[in-house]
Amino acid sequence: MNARQRLEQLWARGRDYLGTERAIMGGAMTWVSDRNLVAAISNAGGFGVIASGSMSPDLLRAEIQATQALTTKPFGVNLITLHPQLDQLVQVCLEEKVGHIVLAGGLPPGAAIKAARDGGARVMCFAPALVIAKKLIRSGADAIVIEGAEAGGHIGPVSTSVLAQEILPEIRDVPVFVAGGIGRGDAIVSYLEMGAAGVQLGTRFVCATECRAHPKFKQAFIRGHAREALASVALDARFPVIPVRALQNEGTKRFMEKQREVIARFDAGELDQKAAQLEIEHYWAGALRRAVIDGDVENGSLMAGQSVGMVTKEQPVAEILAELVEQAETALARRG
Ligand SMILES: Cc1cc2nc3c(=O)[nH]c(=O)nc-3n(C[C@H](O)[C@H](O)[C@H](O)COP(=O)(O)O)c2cc1C
Repeated sequence: MNARQRLEQLWARGRDYLGTERAIMGGAMTWVSDRNLVAAISNAGGFGVIASGSMSPDLLRAEIQATQALTTKPFGVNLITLHPQLDQLVQVCLEEKVGHIVLAGGLPPGAAIKAARDGGARVMCFAPALVIAKKLIRSGADAIVIEGAEAGGHIGPVSTSVLAQEILPEIRDVPVFVAGGIGRGDAIVSYLEMGAAGVQLGTRFVCATECRAHPKFKQAFIRGHAREALASVALDARFPVIPVRALQNEGTKRFMEKQREVIARFDAGELDQKAAQLEIEHYWAGALRRAVIDGDVENGSLMAGQSVGMVTKEQPVAEILAELVEQAETALARRG
């Protein structure tokens, strides 16, 4: 068996599940993963996923239809489970015949999983731990995504390599896709060999030619190194901060000052706990849009994974996927 056949065999389950030529998902990225990037990934044989972020049901419907106008290949929609209109968003996906719904951002309610499944969609859920993966499968999830702390955006505390070792050998009933820190085909092969059905990459697709991100946002990724893509930290345990991995800039520096200032006002009795927590949380409101769309790379949020160091130029999606596959096949050929 040659390297190409071996790769086909290794990711056959993922390809079947996604309905694609390659079991590589383009992870949904808010403001980044719109119709253009999603259609480009799917047209190139991968699996694009629309990031619905805080879109209303009407906006999501328009984005799905616009994507369908650009590709006839399968793609998914990522829904944030905390969205107040989650049920309506699921219905929109079903009405528009979206094949795969990805539920992200917190534990999805069983009712949403059931509604999506009953409506004929496949349902992928993020599992931050083995027990949760098992619970989600019992609730009807038919695939799991495990995303390690190397990833860009909102992250959990555990690295991809540890999650993969904990979860891949234990979950065999449904396909598991591995995300976080994957920048090359060699890494894809190792997770497939450990039992993954496929992979999901986000950071690596930001500088795709087809991606609408502002040129300054892309430039920050091309210049960025792994060591600069850091997780946000809480200054004080009384005021937790959801960890987000992003390239450091003026905005991340000022976030520390903001926390310091708010905590001082709380300690002085000027703010109550709730108001202080809200003020800290609101600091980043709209910040990703400012960076991705407006190109404000100093003050906006430059969410990026540690694999950002492997992003070296702007290039078409088809070229990125071809590179990943070539690296995967080279790695397999070396194994003999
Ligand atoms: C700019 C940016 C925005 C993201 N937004 C979302 C999102 O809205 N929903 C989600 O589930 N994941 C989001 N992610 C995570 C990606 O979908 C993907 O899982 C992650 O980027 C994979 O890790 P990698 O960046 O190391 O490739 C985002 C990541 C980045 C870099």
